[in-house]
Amino acid sequence: QLINRIPVPQESITTEPIAAQDSITVLYGSKSGNSKKVAKNLHDKLIARGFTTVLQDMNAYQGNRLKDEKWLLVVVSTHGEGDPPPAAEDLHAFINNRKAPALPNTKFAVLALGDKSYASYCQTGRDFDSRLGALKATRLLDRFEADVDYEETAEAWIEAVINKVQESFGTAQPAVSAITHVNGNGQLKEATVTYNRKNPFAATVLENIQLNGRGSAKQTYHLELSLEGSGLQYQPGDTLGVWVENHSSLVEGLLAFKKFNPDTRLQIKDTDISLFEFLQKQAELTTVSGSFLAAYSAFVDDPAQAHQLNSILADKQALSSFVYGKDIWDVLQEFPSTLNEEQFAAILLPLQPRLYSIASSLEAHPEEVHLTVGRVVYSNNNREHRGVASNFIADVLQPGQQVSVFIDTNESFRLPENQDTPIIMVGPGTGIAPFRAFVEQRAETGASGKSWLFFGDQHFTTDFLYQTEWQRFLKQGSLTHMNTAFSRDTDKKIYVQHRMQQHAQELYQWLQEGAHFYVCGDAKRMAKDVKQTLIQIVQEQGQLEPEAAQDYVKQLVKTGRYQEDTY
Ligand code: 2AM
Repeated sequence: QLINRIPVPQESITTEPIAAQDSITVLYGSKSGNSKKVAKNLHDKLIARGFTTVLQDMNAYQGNRLKDEKWLLVVVSTHGEGDPPPAAEDLHAFINNRKAPALPNTKFAVLALGDKSYASYCQTGRDFDSRLGALKATRLLDRFEADVDYEETAEAWIEAVINKVQESFGTAQPAVSAITHVNGNGQLKEATVTYNRKNPFAATVLENIQLNGRGSAKQTYHLELSLEGSGLQYQPGDTLGVWVENHSSLVEGLLAFKKFNPDTRLQIKDTDISLFEFLQKQAELTTVSGSFLAAYSAFVDDPAQAHQLNSILADKQALSSFVYGKDIWDVLQEFPSTLNEEQFAAILLPLQPRLYSIASSLEAHPEEVHLTVGRVVYSNNNREHRGVASNFIADVLQPGQQVSVFIDTNESFRLPENQDTPIIMVGPGTGIAPFRAFVEQRAETGASGKSWLFFGDQHFTTDFLYQTEWQRFLKQGSLTHMNTAFSRDTDKKIYVQHRMQQHAQELYQWLQEGAHFYVCGDAKRMAKDVKQTLIQIVQEQGQLEPEAAQDYVKQLVKTGRYQEDTY
């Protein structure tokens, strides 16, 4: 816990001193680090205005402290299908429990971070906001919700919150500009970012190689991009944002189905664009979000169907199973509607860049970034559905071509600071990507810590991704152990967690020596099964009660020794 109190700048001296118990708690629940960044920013600004402020990670916050909070400013993101990020799980469960204490003395405000392309947008922030309200805390201002490009909304919320806090404290409001110059130590200054999500870098494709052998059911691509001249830097564990386009066959099919004219001119943000180009380059078509459905329901012809859509929207579980595997075309088919080209364009969400775990270390490949991309193709409604980014990368991006990219840092997936700390990595399928970066980085920097990699895929002969590289690392000693699980080479499926189980004793030994444990890949089943297996291993090897084994792994999570990058 960090309590900060810096000298009050002349302009913001309050008429009454702030009582010690009136300390403001800025509480964040973060996964990739965005909520933390915003919370830290708010915290710094409050301090600059002379408030006593505590910056607090939900991960290390006991729910029963809530009742002592006078001022509670919450920044929390939503993870996956409307779930809290792991760091916020306990506190989320605490406030949702009906035995949660009443908070009549607490004033609060919530900023919810989310991603509109997911069904349950900002769900965790909404939960915190409504539960704090239900527990009789006083809402300082209505909840703000910020989409993936959250910066502007976050800035606006910070200003609004500070104004509210100052009003409530009854202090003179110092002008922001005055504060900025008083504290010209960099705290309030924006870092000068050259390339980012809004201003991406046009990277040139160096290589695009299919990694699977002939006859494989999978198509996995190794993409190498040049960052030359960009000055872009990244750490192993970071992700790369890639701006892509929808497949023309999807756009054509959808236009034909609705009998829309592809040449209809649209005025979007001061530019004149054809409907076709808009749908291809700017609209989210391969995912269905709650906000699209809510807007679309107004155009649905049959009132009973519109009602049905609205009841799906009201139920988080129903919504996520409804949108699963569907694209916008499926919704148009299932719910006939009357709307024109402009109306349709107006309710679609903007196409978002897709994030991929970076598969390379800058130390090993200066001015390059590599990705491991699995092509997503599946059938639904008797029609082939293609993942927007993987198919664009696989089919469109050939050497020499350019693609718009940016670095998205991921503070919650990092090599240990100490180079001697052992690492255990579990990455089946494309989940292998960040571990290529990890092992390359450790090899380049001469790390002495042991490393252990679990990899799995369908067949040894066709799907052993980066096989020769692993063999080289093993030989050189920069990778200590590797275990593979080829699930379809044997009668009975063998998965990475079965290999973990077979090496339970040594694995537990590594954990006892302080190893960090990493999982990357499928979130729906693999990551859950791997965690469950680890709990079992700890229980058996440590001869612990089931609860104690769960606590052991929970503690690993809390201390950053169990990290997940799953999708
Ligand atoms: P499968 O395709 O034979 O089911 C990478 O996709 C590898 O992960 C494949 O070998 C796949 O096996 C396997 N896999 C699928 N479900 C899994 C699970 N729940 N846990 C671990 N591995 C899994």
